Formats: sequence, C-alpha cells, structure tokens
Amino acid sequence: MATDYDNFGGKDFFTSLVKDFYQEIINDPILKPMYPEDDLDGAIERLTLFLMQYWGGPGTYSELRGHPRLRMRHAAFPIDFAARDSWLKNMTIALDKQQITDENRTKLWNYLQMAADSMVNTRTDGVI
Ligand code: HEM
Repeated sequence: MATDYDNFGGKDFFTSLVKDFYQEIINDPILKPMYPEDDLDGAIERLTLFLMQYWGGPGTYSELRGHPRLRMRHAAFPIDFAARDSWLKNMTIALDKQQITDENRTKLWNYLQMAADSMVNTRTDGVI
C-alpha cells in the first residue's frame, strides 16, 4: 500500500520542500540567528530525513539521530509564538513552490501546524 511519503512525492518532494524552506530561513530576521550558520547543510538533511521518516519513508533519521524527541531537541532555542509563526510562514512559502495535491497539502499542513504549536517553549508577551 502506498504511504503518505509516496503520495506526497517521495524523497524528491521532501528534499525540495526543505531546501526551499531553508532558503527562507536564511533571510528570516527572527529565525536565522537560531540556526547553525556553519552547518546549514546538516540542518537541511536532519529536517528532510525526519519528515521522510515521519510520513512513512526510510528510517534513516533515527538510524543517525536516535529517537526524534523533538520538543527536547528544541529546548535549546527560545521558541515563542512569533518564532512559531515565522517558521510556519516560511513553510507556507516553501509549500507553495511544490507540486502537491490539495488533499495531501492539507494533511501535511495540519501536521506541521500541530507540531509547530507543540514546539513553543517560551512566551514574550507578558502573559503568565
Ligand atoms: C516552531 C518553530 C520552530 C523553530 C524556531 C525551530 C528551530 C529549529 C532549530 C534552530 C533547529 C536546529 C537546526 C539543526 O541544527 O538541525 C531545529 C532542528 C530541528 N527541527 Fe525545528 N524548529 C521549529 C519547528 C519544528 C517543527 C514543527 C518540526 C517538525 C515538524 C521541526 C523539526 C526539526 C528537526 C527534525 C530538527 C533536527 C533535530 C536533530 O536531529 O537534531 N522543527 N529546529
């Protein structure tokens, strides 16, 4: 049975999506400073492999990095609502450049929104 990974377009789709996403990140005033300037290729590879694995593709991410534990891995970065919104905005721009059906896009987008919400770990709006 075809996986979501296959339906979205397999490795080519995820590679292109994350490449286009990082093209936005490196011009993003909030997010750029958080990412490793000297290891952008590594960061691109990590996100690509994670998304491929999450959607039913090869398990290379965990072979290389172990259990994802994404919230823990993001604890080092101060992610407030503004950072989350920027991340999602950049992902929208990248998604707009891919060929994907509306149905698959909605499926992927719902997940990304949920995942980005769960990564928020700090607030800067003064509300406790
Ligand atoms: C909400 C806003 C987010 C911010 C500001 C953010 C920021 C970052 C930063 C700065 C890194 C380090 C880059 C690296 O060296 O790999 C990173 C890594 C990563 N992020 Fe995010 N991220 C966000 C949301 C997400 C979401 C929604 C996902 C998954 C759907 C995700 C998946 C990953 C993965 C897989 C890694 C690499 C983890 C590893 O193996 O070390 N991130 N993120």
